[in-house]
Amino acid sequence: MPRLAVLTSGGDAPGMNAAIRAVARIAIARGFEVAGVRNGYTGLIAGDFLPLGLREVGGIMQNGGTILGTIRCDAMRTESGCDSALAMLRAQNVAVLVVIGGNGTHTGAQELARRGAPVIGVASTIDNDLYGSDVSIGATTAVDVALQSIDRLRTTASSMRRAFLVEVMGRHCGYLALMAGIAGGAEAIVVPEADSDPAVVAEELRAAYARGKSHAIAVIAEGAQYDAEALMHYFHAHRDRLGFELRLTKLGHVQRGGAPGVFDRMLGTQLGVAAVEAAANRRFGISVGLRAGVPATTPLAEVAGKSRPADAGLLDLARILAM
Ligand code: F6P
Repeated sequence: MPRLAVLTSGGDAPGMNAAIRAVARIAIARGFEVAGVRNGYTGLIAGDFLPLGLREVGGIMQNGGTILGTIRCDAMRTESGCDSALAMLRAQNVAVLVVIGGNGTHTGAQELARRGAPVIGVASTIDNDLYGSDVSIGATTAVDVALQSIDRLRTTASSMRRAFLVEVMGRHCGYLALMAGIAGGAEAIVVPEADSDPAVVAEELRAAYARGKSHAIAVIAEGAQYDAEALMHYFHAHRDRLGFELRLTKLGHVQRGGAPGVFDRMLGTQLGVAAVEAAANRRFGISVGLRAGVPATTPLAEVAGKSRPADAGLLDLARILAM
């Protein structure tokens, strides 16, 4: 029986468990023996494998995080670390390795593929910045979490006529900020993909009060040119002139936690199935993502080292909608 191993790596994302479940159950149905690797590439290098049967992946889809555990593995950034991972794949008789994760995970996967390992990537990151997939596992749930927080902040903002800066994750990508900002009706959105200026953000918030609003909310991506701390610094320095009170809320890792929504459960399932179908057809060195609504593959060599920016063109639309 050929042995398929599956691991999750990098930042956990809601929906990873749905992908693990789909990979395991479809692979078993296709005649593979399935092993899970604990703690990402670190566990792979250490040979930390566990058998994954039908029952081991039961009752996990509704939980956030990953049952396999995940670590950011520095060793996979080194030649010797990649060589050790490859040696362990061979020692463990792994015929297919499925790696579920984002950019760092896919770069590691490409290093293994370059060395001849049969690897398949599955697009999963709340940042939604992976090249080759319109949407990655976890991103939609993370936007929903941010959105719920923004909706809650709005009620206190309105009641006290305050302004809020809400910092969301996303590393160097503004996807979470754009989606949560537009869907949350934010008065200002700041993303790394567009130049920003604290004076312009301040004016957008001030103008919202001038138009008769009782609150003003700015959603700031953590990777923006001027992050939330820098903006707070500017606001404090110009507090008297601006004439409104401002508070900062950093959502941080809250956005990665909690149960995956229906979209991420389905996406994890669809991409997990597609990864095993690719394995059964002996198609390796690819990443499985979603394009135009259907699972699609991209060579790992094209995915690694690239990233997919958010559509900054939506900012113009957001400004009009916030009127
Ligand atoms: O890549 C996912 C992500 O949550 C980013 O949005 C964020 O910048 C980063 O991971 C945080 O990393 P860590 O969990 O290692 O602090």
